[in-house]
Amino acid sequence: MSTKHAPVVPTVKSTGSAPAFFSCWDIHSYYGESYIVQGVSFDIREGEIVALLGRNGAGKTSTLRSIARVDSPQVTHGEIWLDHQPLHTMKSHQAAQLGVGLVPEDRRIIAGMTVEENLILAQIAPPVGWTIERIYEHFPRLAERRNQEATTLSGGEQQMLAVARALARDVKLLLDEPYEGLAPVIVHEIERIVDGIKELGMTTIIVEQNAVAALRLADRAIILDMGQVVFDGLAQEVLDNAELRQQYLAI
Ligand SMILES: Nc1ncnc2c1ncn2[C@@H]1O[C@H](COP(=O)(O)OP(=O)(O)OP(=O)(O)O)[C@@H](O)[C@H]1O
Ligand SMILES: [Mg+2]
Repeated sequence: MSTKHAPVVPTVKSTGSAPAFFSCWDIHSYYGESYIVQGVSFDIREGEIVALLGRNGAGKTSTLRSIARVDSPQVTHGEIWLDHQPLHTMKSHQAAQLGVGLVPEDRRIIAGMTVEENLILAQIAPPVGWTIERIYEHFPRLAERRNQEATTLSGGEQQMLAVARALARDVKLLLDEPYEGLAPVIVHEIERIVDGIKELGMTTIIVEQNAVAALRLADRAIILDMGQVVFDGLAQEVLDNAELRQQYLAI
């Protein structure tokens, strides 16, 4: 090995980790008196897909809603940062303008409107993201059904439309959770949707009742239990660890 030193170039010394693209720190949230999110912290790198998992009632939806800054639950403590912007100081519409896409909130599919009309409506206010043509290239199924009334789409197709509506806006962080009460979405449809998201390189937190499907496609997994993070690591570790799955996911 050469003993010659490389020319000295002034550089910023690396701390070993880039500042996170998204980070939430010690979030506590309440529904009225009911204390639900109890000190949740995690970071996400740009382009990463994180599966947020946990049993029924663990606090997944409440965590997504806290991040999206919707009115309830009320966040009483903690910080939430997206791309250097303090979401914790904002209302939901401001967070949405900065690029937080909460898919259930976007699922306001209007009866009597076609797939295409629903996409056009998503672009009514700035910031505008993908063009409708680009969305169709990515989701050929929606292109085929552009003139179909959106409420008659299958569960998986409605989920696809919800993601497409988020893309039609300029989304930086996608918070994706199939609408509760929707007929169970079949696994290969979920995989197609998440695969689609993965191809886009969009930073995503996905909450999905089918934990195995979500884990197969996510980079990382965060498991919540009783409003607290009990695991934060590689999705593969959860797939490999039956005890962990049994304890916190009952799968
Ligand atoms: N609007 C509300 N008012 C009071 N309590 C609520 C409200 N919404 C949710 N909760 C409670 O907060 C806790 C966490 O709920 P949350 O919906 O975040 O769970 P989850 O992990 O998404 O569960 P699931 O897998 O069943 O969707 C539950 O005990 C739930 O009953
Ligand atoms: Mg939920």
